[in-house]
Formats: sequence, structure tokens, C-alpha cells
Amino acid sequence: MPTPPNDSFTSSSPAPSKTNANTRLSQINQHTATMGSAGEHTLFDANVVPQAPEDPLFGLMAAYRKDTSDKKVDLGIGAYRDNNAKPWVLPVVKKADEILRNDPNLNHEYLPIAGLPEFTSAAQKLILGADSPAIKESRVTSLQTISGTGAVHLGGLFLAKFLSKPTPAIYLSNPTWANHNQIFTNVHLSIKQYPYFSAKTKMLDLEGMLSTLKSAPQGSIVLLHACAHNPTGVDPTQDQWKQIAEVVRSNKLFPFFDCAYQGFASGDLAKDNFAIRYFVEEGFELVIAQSFAKNFGLYGERAGSFHFVASPGSNAQDVVKRVGSQLAILQRSEISNPPAYGARIASIVLNDEALFKQWEEDLRTMSGRIIEMRKSLKAELDKLDTPGNWDHITSQIGMFSFTGLAEAQVLAIREKWHVYMTKNGRISMAGLNTGNVKYFAEALDDVVRNVK
Ligand SMILES: Cc1ncc(COP(=O)(O)O)c(C=O)c1O
Repeated sequence: MPTPPNDSFTSSSPAPSKTNANTRLSQINQHTATMGSAGEHTLFDANVVPQAPEDPLFGLMAAYRKDTSDKKVDLGIGAYRDNNAKPWVLPVVKKADEILRNDPNLNHEYLPIAGLPEFTSAAQKLILGADSPAIKESRVTSLQTISGTGAVHLGGLFLAKFLSKPTPAIYLSNPTWANHNQIFTNVHLSIKQYPYFSAKTKMLDLEGMLSTLKSAPQGSIVLLHACAHNPTGVDPTQDQWKQIAEVVRSNKLFPFFDCAYQGFASGDLAKDNFAIRYFVEEGFELVIAQSFAKNFGLYGERAGSFHFVASPGSNAQDVVKRVGSQLAILQRSEISNPPAYGARIASIVLNDEALFKQWEEDLRTMSGRIIEMRKSLKAELDKLDTPGNWDHITSQIGMFSFTGLAEAQVLAIREKWHVYMTKNGRISMAGLNTGNVKYFAEALDDVVRNVK
């Protein structure tokens, strides 16, 4: 037997059996192979870090880009497109950009931890109303965030850290924006659901929602979409919001508003924010995540803010001061300080009367085009006499509509007609235009009739 090429077999070791020696030899070979090649040695093999699935929305975008058909229609992504299916830079944003570039005092210093003060104060007025009692009584503290996503995350982080233990669960609508689940799971909040959408009526399941919220443990957090619910496009009426507020109050739930579409839904900033303003008037302590991605078309610039509103009371100012100080610490450790460009653009517009008016005009252009597309799609489906009731196309609001298509129909419409939508049958109305709405109606009609 040849001597193994390893000094661990000393002369004093008992003579190894043939099988033992072979096993040992193969262990050594494996070990040297791993150690010898730095590229192959990892602490993160597939058992530790399994391959994660691709983000469904971004995967859908990639599939759309690859499709070479000249008929293809993108109804997946939640970003506004003009009537030529092109991204639209708001004219008011172009003006603000010009002003910013010509500002001789412009520099690229860090913003404060809480962000650009003239931006956050304008954001407060926008979301709560300039004459809000909460602003007048200094009961609000606000931080600029990485768009709406960053605001939702900061809110989740704060609540998970400071709400009394055991930390209450957060109730999300079923369905909701998919990222809510990931964000709140990442900050270790446990997630529960309340019914929201009735597949049968394609309207709000108010009864289901209220009864679940009534039976939620007191102190639970409830996440509410302020307007243009994503993904369903179904919003409570003003009267229904009052009933929701009543249950939130009687069961001592904590309201967390997510507002990603103010002004984009109806074209009217105050109307889209009825729910938040009503809850604040009613004296709730609450938090708000506010995005400027859709209503300013500043998607990639990540402009947003997070607001904490205290209930009226003699200690309210003390509460917001303490809460603000802790939020600043969280912000510092997460992003240090927020990005400047988007906030500067929004701030220029929000703080100038004439530009603000022009912005409202731009909002009406976007929301108006989407409302027109809803009407056209409904009219085309009526013409085709497509089976089923399609009233929800015009009663739903905002960027999205829940078509009610089953997954097999969604896959068939992609395969045969090159129409891209998320698997749950959600379409982005902004992807429709006068050039493709008829084609889409025909595609929808075909899969509704022929794919079960
Ligand atoms: C309900 C909801 N919340 C938050 C966001 C956050 O968007 P952003 O981070 O781009 O502002 C979105 C965007 O689609 C949304 O639909």
C-alpha cells in the first residue's frame, strides 16, 4: 500500500484499513479542491441562500421588452404613458427643472436627515390640506423618504420598534400592493388580511372588511390605501370611509395610510385625499406614507415623505417632538439622508402658486386620459357584447383595473395577442391608448369566450 501523501498519518498512528484510508483520501481531496480555488468556496451555498424568484412585475417587463410583435401591449407596469405609449415628463416638471438648473446657489451638499424642509412642509399641506388643524397645532412631524416605498418601510420600522410588545399585527387588504407583504415582513411585523374585493360584484366587500376589522385584536395596525387602491382600482365611498373610521375608533386600531396616487386618481387633490383628511379631522393618531412618483411622474427620482400626526391634546407637540427624534435616528441608520433632485423639483412646484396651478392642469391631463380610456374600453366591450358585466371598468378608479381574468386567460392573452398584464388579471389603464384600445378589447373578448 503506498504511503498516503499526508503527514497526518504518523508512524505512531494505527495502520489504516483500506476503506478508511480511501474515505480519508477522498475527504482530503475534496478539502484541498475547495480551499485551493477561492471562487468555489462560499458560505452561501444554495441551502443557505436559495435562488429567489424574479420580481413578477419586473419579470413581466423583461418579457414584454423581448417580444418582437408590433402589436404588443404593455398593461403591466404602474407608470403613466401618453397616447403614444411613451413616458410623459410633466410640462410643469420641465419648467421646475429649468428653474433648478439656472439657480446660481444650487449645490450638491447633503440634505438634512429629515430632508428638504421646504419640501416636507409643502408635502404636509398637500396631504392634510393647507388649513389642516393638525398643521396649525404643530401636531405633525414629517421626513422626506425614498419615495412611497421608503415611507412605508420607515413607518413599518418605527411601529415595529416602538409599539408596545407583543407587537400587534398589521392588517392588509386582500389583495394589496405586493410589496406591502415584503416590506412589513422585513421589519418583522406579522401580517394579517382583511377582505376588500368581492370577486363576485367586482366592488368593495365592505361587510367582510368591517367584520374582520371589528374582530381584530385591539391595537392592531390597519393599512389603508388612501385612494386608487392598488391593484383593484376600487375605493370606498365617502360614506363607507366614515363607517371604516367608526370601526377603527371603536376597536382602537392604528391607521396607517398609504397614499401613492393623490391627484392622479380623480384629478382633484382634495377629493382623492378625503379619507386622510377625514381621519385627521376626527382626531386619530396616525401615520401616512406619501409618494410623488405618479402624480409628478418622478418615478426614478424617489421623492416621498412620511408623516406622523398626533391626536389633539396638551401633550401633542411633545409627542411629535419625541417621535420625530426617533424617526430621524432610524432614517440616519437606513439612508443617512434622502436624495435631493426629486424633492427639489416637487418643492419648486408646490411652493409656487402659478406652477401649482399648472401642476393641477397636468394632473387633469393624466387622470382625464385614463378616465377616457376606461370609457373607450367599456364601449368597445359593449360593442362586442363580451360575456359578463364590465361596469367595473368605468366604476373603478386610478391607474389600475381588476379585469377578473383567470390566470389561464392572462397567459393566453399574452401568448396569442401579445398583451402583458400581471397574473392576477390587473391591467394598468395607462397602457391603453386610442391606437390599441380596440385591439385590446378584441383580445379580451377572445379569451373570455374561448379560454376557461
Ligand atoms: C399602493 C402603493 N404604495 C406605494 C407605492 C410606492 O411607489 P414608489 O416607491 O414608487 O413611490 C406604490 C407604487 O406602485 C403603490 O401602488
